[in-house]
Amino acid sequence: MREVNRIILIACGTASYAALIGKYAFERLAGIPTEVDVASEFRYRDPIIDSHTLIFVISQSGETADTLAAAREAKRKGAFVRGIVNVVGSTIARETDGGTYIHAGPELAVASTKAYANMVAILLLYALQFGRSRRLSLATGRRLLGALSEIVPKMEKALEQDKKIQKLAEKYQNYKNFLFLGRGINFPVALEGSLKLKEISYIHSEAFPGGEMKHGQIALLSENFPVLAIMTKNQLYEKMRSNIEEVKARKAPVILIATEGDDKAKELAEDIIYVSETMELLEPLVNTIPLQLFAYHMAVLLGRDV
Ligand code: F6R
Repeated sequence: MREVNRIILIACGTASYAALIGKYAFERLAGIPTEVDVASEFRYRDPIIDSHTLIFVISQSGETADTLAAAREAKRKGAFVRGIVNVVGSTIARETDGGTYIHAGPELAVASTKAYANMVAILLLYALQFGRSRRLSLATGRRLLGALSEIVPKMEKALEQDKKIQKLAEKYQNYKNFLFLGRGINFPVALEGSLKLKEISYIHSEAFPGGEMKHGQIALLSENFPVLAIMTKNQLYEKMRSNIEEVKARKAPVILIATEGDDKAKELAEDIIYVSETMELLEPLVNTIPLQLFAYHMAVLLGRDV
């Protein structure tokens, strides 16, 4: 672990969003430069890899062709390749040099949901372990583990909002376009919310980092283009607030994911879903759930086969 000076996380789709969250964790907790590559790009470029590069390939099924090919390419170049895989005995699990099964249980639908949450949790644990072998204090490590052990009731609380989210989907089911906004560790959450919506309900959606929106995307916004934004209480809260003010100036309806007790958020939102507060690095575990439920209910209401 001490020899590693660079990490590359390789995956496709939802797994690559879990990887983006992993990047934040590795850089913040362990101070190791970390990149995320979608597998279909990694395998066709000429990545610079040496024996100090650690590669993680992340896959629910363990059979995704691009991810498998990327793992083979990385091994050929001399990297140590670890798998983070759900399906036990799958090809990626067998071909990697070592790794971790996430044991999320079988994913029955096309859309990866609980596997995503478990990928995030495993990546956080890896980042914590690398951090502790380097610069992370025992106290911070313990605080993170404590917060992680309290995360399940917070995730359950988000799931309990199911009825409210169903009502929200009823209200928005006829819109044709959605924009998802997040910043920092919640940008991958926005990407995941957007992918799930388009994947299972066939509604057009896009995701942008809040601060990037003004460089073009904002031109599309109007009263017919709702924006789902994650504005939980973290270090980028004020930045996100000002992005949402820009959205409101365009008259786009705003649906906010906000932290319980943040009454001021109501001033900005047409609709609001409150989630429990947790450590910033753990926020994606909670904040993704309302967005996945929203995609689910939109799809069911539109008669799609989820
Ligand atoms: C989205 C989804 C896909 C998968 C992707 C990778 O809901 O399920 O984007 O995440 O195809 O699949 P795995 O994780 O099996 O390699």
